Amino acid sequence: MKTQKSGKQHMRYRELSDKYGSLVRIGPNTLTTSDPELIRRMSAARSVYRRSDWYTGMRVDPHLDNILSELDTDVHDKRRAKMAGAYAGRENPQLEKDVDDQLASWMNLIRTKYISNGDSLKPMDIALQAQYFTLDVITSLAYGRAFGYLARDEDIYDYIKLAEEFVSTAAPIVGVTPIQNFLYRSGLIFKIAPNPEDPKGFGRLMAEAKASVNERYGADAKERQDMIGAFVRNGIPQKQIEAELLLQIIAGSDTTASAIRSTLLRLLTSPRVLAKLREEVDAAVAEGRVSSPIQQKESKELPYLQAIVKEGLRINPPFLGQVAKQVPAGGDTYNGIYLPGGTHIGHNVYALQRLPIFGTDIDTFRPERWLEGDHETTREMEKIVELVFGYGRWSCMGKNVAYLEMDKVYFELLRHFDFDVVNAEKPWSSQNFNIWMQHEFFVRVTERNVSKAR
Ligand code: HEM
Repeated sequence: MKTQKSGKQHMRYRELSDKYGSLVRIGPNTLTTSDPELIRRMSAARSVYRRSDWYTGMRVDPHLDNILSELDTDVHDKRRAKMAGAYAGRENPQLEKDVDDQLASWMNLIRTKYISNGDSLKPMDIALQAQYFTLDVITSLAYGRAFGYLARDEDIYDYIKLAEEFVSTAAPIVGVTPIQNFLYRSGLIFKIAPNPEDPKGFGRLMAEAKASVNERYGADAKERQDMIGAFVRNGIPQKQIEAELLLQIIAGSDTTASAIRSTLLRLLTSPRVLAKLREEVDAAVAEGRVSSPIQQKESKELPYLQAIVKEGLRINPPFLGQVAKQVPAGGDTYNGIYLPGGTHIGHNVYALQRLPIFGTDIDTFRPERWLEGDHETTREMEKIVELVFGYGRWSCMGKNVAYLEMDKVYFELLRHFDFDVVNAEKPWSSQNFNIWMQHEFFVRVTERNVSKAR
C-alpha cells in the first residue's frame, strides 16, 4: 500500500526485479513478474488462470461489473466476443474518420489560440491537451459525439480533475482484498462511488452514458454503424452498455494521453531523434506519400515513426497496474517453481520493458533499437512491448484505437508546428498511480513553413 501510494511504484517494482529476478513476492499472497512467458501463460486463450480480485477495483459502477472488472471468465469471454467487432473497427467503419476529426480539432485549437510570435509567449499545456484529444476521440466513439474538450479548451464537468483525485486516492487500495471486501460489505462503496446524479466527474459521465444509450432504444431510434449500435445489435443489455461506455472513457483516455505525453517529452528533449523524425515527415509530405491527415496505413510505411511509437510505449508504459491473475486451485509449476493455488501474480510492466533484449541503454529513448537488430530479435522485442496492453484473453480491447491515435498524432503535430519546452529544468511533473498523472508540460508553439507542411 505504501508503495502504491508513493507515485513511484514502478521504480520500486523495477528495483525488486533487478535485485531478486523476474518473479518476486510483493505481498502475503502476491507475486509480480517481468517474465514475458509467464504473462503469456497466465493470459492465453485457454489458460486455467483466472482474474484475481485486483480487478474488482476496476468497477466504476459498484452495482455492475464492466468487461474489465468481470471476474467470471466465462461471462467475460462471452461478452468480449460480442464487443470485439466494434473495437476492431469491423462493425464500426468510421473509427479512423472519428480520430481524424478530433485531430483536426486539436490542430485548429493550437492555430487559433496557442501560436507564439516573437516575445509574445502563449504557453500551451500539451499534457492537458493530449487528454482533451483522447477524451474527444473516446467520447465520439463511445457516445456518438465528441464532448468538445478541444473546442472548449476546458476540463468539461471537471472530469480530469475529479478522476485524478479519485484515482490517486483509490490506487493504494486497488487489489487490497480486505479493504475492498469491507467497502462492499459495509455498503460504504455505494456512498463514495460515482452516481449519475452528480453534476460533475464520473457521475456526470454516467448520466451522459445513460442518455446516449437511451436514445438508441427510443421508439424512433435509428440503427447506427458505431460502437453503441454494434453493442445493441449484438444483444448486450442496455444497462451493461452504459457500464461499458463508462469504462471506455476511463480505460481509453488517460492511457493513450500518457503515451502521447511521454513520447512527446522524449521527442522534444532529444534533438537528434526529433531532427531525424522531421526528415522522415518532410520527405513523406514532399514526395506525396501521405494524405492530410496521415492515414494509418501510410503511417505504417514510415519506419522511424513506427520505431518512435514503440519506443514511447516501452520507455514509459502507459498503464502500470498489476492486473494480477490467480493461480488455479490445484497450483501450477512454472520453470521448476511451485505456485500454490490462489496465489496472485501481477505484471511488472516497467521492469518488463527494461529486459536485456532491449540493449544496455534501456533507460535512453533511442528509437534506432527497433531498426538495427535482426528480424527475430526485433520481432521478440515487439511482442514484449505489446504486453503493455496485456495479452490474449484479457488483452486491451482498445489497442487498435490507441494505435490509430499514436500512428497519427506525432506526425501531424510535427508536420505543422515547432515546439520548444518552456521550462527546461522541470519540463513537467509526473507520478504513477497505476495510471500516470502528468501535468504542466508547457511548450511554446510556432507554425512551421506552410508550403513544406501541406
Ligand atoms: C496506450 C493505450 C492503452 C494501454 C497501454 C492500455 C492497456 C490496457 C491493459 C494493460 C489492460 C488490461 C489487460 C489485462 O487485464 O491483463 C487493458 C484493458 C482494456 N482496455 Fe486498454 N489500454 C490502452 C488504451 C485503450 C483504449 C483507447 C480503450 C478504448 C477505446 C481501451 C479499452 C480497454 C478495455 C475495454 C479493456 C478490458 C479488456 C477485457 O477485459 O477483456 N484501452 N488496457
